[in-house]
Amino acid sequence: MSTTAVPTASPASHEVDGWAIHHSAALESTNSTASHLPAWSAVRAKTQTAGRGRTGRAWVGDEGGLWLSAVLPCPGERSRWATLPLAVGWALMAALKDLGAQGLRLRWPNDLMVGHCKLAGVLVERYRDDTAVVGIGLNVHNHPEACEPLLQGQTIRLSDLIAMPYDLDFLERVVLRSLRRVHRTLSNEGFDAIAVPMNLAWNVPSRVELTLNGNQGTVDGWFQGIDSHGRLRLITAPDSQRFLEPGDVALLREID
Ligand code: BTN
Repeated sequence: MSTTAVPTASPASHEVDGWAIHHSAALESTNSTASHLPAWSAVRAKTQTAGRGRTGRAWVGDEGGLWLSAVLPCPGERSRWATLPLAVGWALMAALKDLGAQGLRLRWPNDLMVGHCKLAGVLVERYRDDTAVVGIGLNVHNHPEACEPLLQGQTIRLSDLIAMPYDLDFLERVVLRSLRRVHRTLSNEGFDAIAVPMNLAWNVPSRVELTLNGNQGTVDGWFQGIDSHGRLRLITAPDSQRFLEPGDVALLREID
């Protein structure tokens, strides 16, 4: 039986803070379900059976994590919203810091890390010109390494960072509020309002190796933050730099 059916008005659908929220026990991917819904809808599943990460990777969506997709309006030119994925990562980090989580950092473009362990990931997909589906995966109480042994030592959970009086409903609300806020910032002030503090927060220069998409091999150099379009600035030699879009890069490896 397919698990991607569009959620309809049901006891599992309700409205909070102006969001129409749909809850399911299990879905293939909350992003896929949200792709059918209008702006200001959100979909959350207890588990995902075919969760998706960036650049075609799988995402483990076991019980106890926050698997949430929100549909945001994106009026105007498509290019105007190209920085949304970075802005969302930044907003998510700010929201979790407000809950008391310490030691968080962003790994470009939008992985939320503590040291070398991944706490959360963001997958933004454009199914329509006027909306974006923002998928957020946040490890909370779950055990991703039990589902995928390769993740052993690679992930961290919110419950490892802070005392957790918070349930997933509360975290959902916090995250949706932060999305509404960042959407307003991008609409009213533009990406510069986010890029400037983002660049200040990054520890640069730091050495990285990038695996490029499309069988373009790898390139290494010094990460120097982002430009006003959210592109990664890579210093490859003393007088040479490259700018890379998130879509250019399959994997960013940090070299200590
Ligand atoms: C990444 O770091 O590669 C992005 C991971 C995004 C995972 C979330 S979980 C909710 C939503 N549904 C999906 O299938 N993916 C995103």
